Amino acid sequence: MKVVAIVGSVREGSFNKYLARFVQKRYADKFDMEILDLSGLPLFNQDIENNPPAAVEEFKSKVKAADAVLWITPEYNATIPGVLGNAIDWLSRVEKVMIGKPSWIMGASMGQLGTVKAQAHLRDILFAPGLQSPVLIGNEVYVGAVHTKMDKDGNITDEATVAFLDSVAANFLEWMKRFGKTS
Ligand code: FNR
Repeated sequence: MKVVAIVGSVREGSFNKYLARFVQKRYADKFDMEILDLSGLPLFNQDIENNPPAAVEEFKSKVKAADAVLWITPEYNATIPGVLGNAIDWLSRVEKVMIGKPSWIMGASMGQLGTVKAQAHLRDILFAPGLQSPVLIGNEVYVGAVHTKMDKDGNITDEATVAFLDSVAANFLEWMKRFGKTS
């Protein structure tokens, strides 16, 4: 099974990028995951949506080829970061590559609530007509106080968080069977 991870932070030391890399490594025997880089995506512009820059074409083709998208996002000002909204706008227009594609959502923040508002908004966005992505519900991953749960290399050191990730990853794999994917 091929999964692409779309991370809503482009900064070097992003906790959400570390979380993505942790998931990629830990479940490497269960699904093949590529972490997409949003830093090269231009701002969405409707004037060029029919003939977008190569970076957009490449991004959309990777999402199109994936069996599922794992969204891993920080919360900015009680919602999703602009960089993520921009990526979503590209995905939602012309060839609407998210339609019918399963989504799973996670997020990490230093605050206690672990991106709860951003994830609620993201779920709602994924139901928009241009996206229509079925979202794995009841499987939310809110990693609060993330700076106390990771070492400097991005390994999750908090055992309860790792155990929780293992259980939700198992739920995700079980859910993907509905889409004809067993591994
Ligand atoms: C934040 N941060 C933040 N945190 C939160 O829990 N709720 C929020 O609404 C916001 N708002 C916010 C706005 C902006 C512009 C910034 C830069 C930051 C803090 C944020 O969660 C923290 O910087 C994370 O570490 C960002 O994620 P990455 O880059 O580490 O993945």
